[in-house]
Amino acid sequence: MKAYRASLLRFAPHGDPHQSAIFDEDGLLVVGPDGSGCPVVHAAGSYHSLRANLRDQFPNLEVQHLPGRIIAPGFIDLHLHYPQTQVIGSPAAGLLPWLEKYTFPEEKNFSAPDYAAQEASFFIAEVLRNGVTTALAFASSHPASVNALFTEAKARNMRLITGKCLQDRNSPDGLRDETEQSLIDTEALIRRWHGKGRLGYAITPRFAPSSTDAQLRGAGELAARYPDVWIQSHVAENTDEIKWARELFPKSRSYLSTYADFGLMRERAVYAHSIHLDDADRNLMRATGAAAAVCPTSNLFLGSGFFDFAASDRAGFAYGLASDVGGGTSFSPFHTMLAAYYVGRAPVAGLAPQPGLSLSPQLLWWRHTAGAARAMGLEGVVGNLQVGCEADFIVLNPKATPLLARKAAQASSVDELLFAMIVLGDDRLIENAVIST
Ligand code: GUN
Ligand code: ZN
Repeated sequence: MKAYRASLLRFAPHGDPHQSAIFDEDGLLVVGPDGSGCPVVHAAGSYHSLRANLRDQFPNLEVQHLPGRIIAPGFIDLHLHYPQTQVIGSPAAGLLPWLEKYTFPEEKNFSAPDYAAQEASFFIAEVLRNGVTTALAFASSHPASVNALFTEAKARNMRLITGKCLQDRNSPDGLRDETEQSLIDTEALIRRWHGKGRLGYAITPRFAPSSTDAQLRGAGELAARYPDVWIQSHVAENTDEIKWARELFPKSRSYLSTYADFGLMRERAVYAHSIHLDDADRNLMRATGAAAAVCPTSNLFLGSGFFDFAASDRAGFAYGLASDVGGGTSFSPFHTMLAAYYVGRAPVAGLAPQPGLSLSPQLLWWRHTAGAARAMGLEGVVGNLQVGCEADFIVLNPKATPLLARKAAQASSVDELLFAMIVLGDDRLIENAVIST
């Protein structure tokens, strides 16, 4: 059993996410193994209210005091690509030329196990350095790339979900896979890795335009056979992409419903971007239990468009925030939350910007932690520091930079403190990311 005394941020499990943050200025987090040996939160709350009780229960409990620091749930990145770490900051006219010119050529390198291992090691270190303790990540189409990432995550006991890209057409030699073999490989990877420790597998059709009907059908069959395996893909990111998807799958009602037609929409299915949806699509998301990964830095960088937060909330489907590295421009959840805030203020579909704060600081933070966990079917498991949650947490130093130190010291509410960190924060704010082992 270990205990940490610092300011403590967590979220009320069923509260209104605009106001669900619970902040103990002088807080205590107690972590220890559950029945199966997995480290979980045993107690969380104010130091003074927990102290006496704990002394009786655990007389030898050592409390690590972290004055001036904030302990918060580790962030969840709902969508990013580990083979695109080197692709960050590659300018292109839009998604499709960016894929052709920079992304596909780099991903081809991941057929080499040594290269994949080197990049996996850098990627996991970078993600943790930025305070992300759970990730739903694309690998490349090569099974070796999946093995490399899982191996690295397992060594750190990190909760990581990944999968081999399925892309049996409209992809270059060296990246394009073969329909039947791709499905055999996917099933073998599921059996090898899914549910091993904290690892999970995601069936990963890259996007509908790069899969044949047969590959999508096979992916849907696997998704039915392995219901607790995740599904991840892209949808409705870019207008040229949408036009192409409609030409390739004309029988489906929409680009999104192509996935439903192949059995790829269900709980634990996460669709990156989900920008250019209509209300029928949004209702389909809700009805199937699928979720969206909202990727604002990527959408701004590639000029893809603006996620419609208001329409999504009206439809009531789950979504969370994601970096989408390397379309996204940063591994930092602070940069992603700030970009989401900008997008939330931007005019959508020609409408005037909404007055007032569409995305409150607490809501932004929730969508990158507890809300993201809900979107991926891991609510109460990760993304929060309530009793019973897995004990992944970050230690924030709000004095990390001179400007932030002044701003944070002035904050007179939780919202002001969180917003100071969202606007001014980056990897310097993360003093430590702790994966309890
Ligand atoms: N659509 C298909 N592949 C990709 C990718 O790698 N990145 C993004 N942003 N969109 C995609
Ligand atoms: Zn992506």
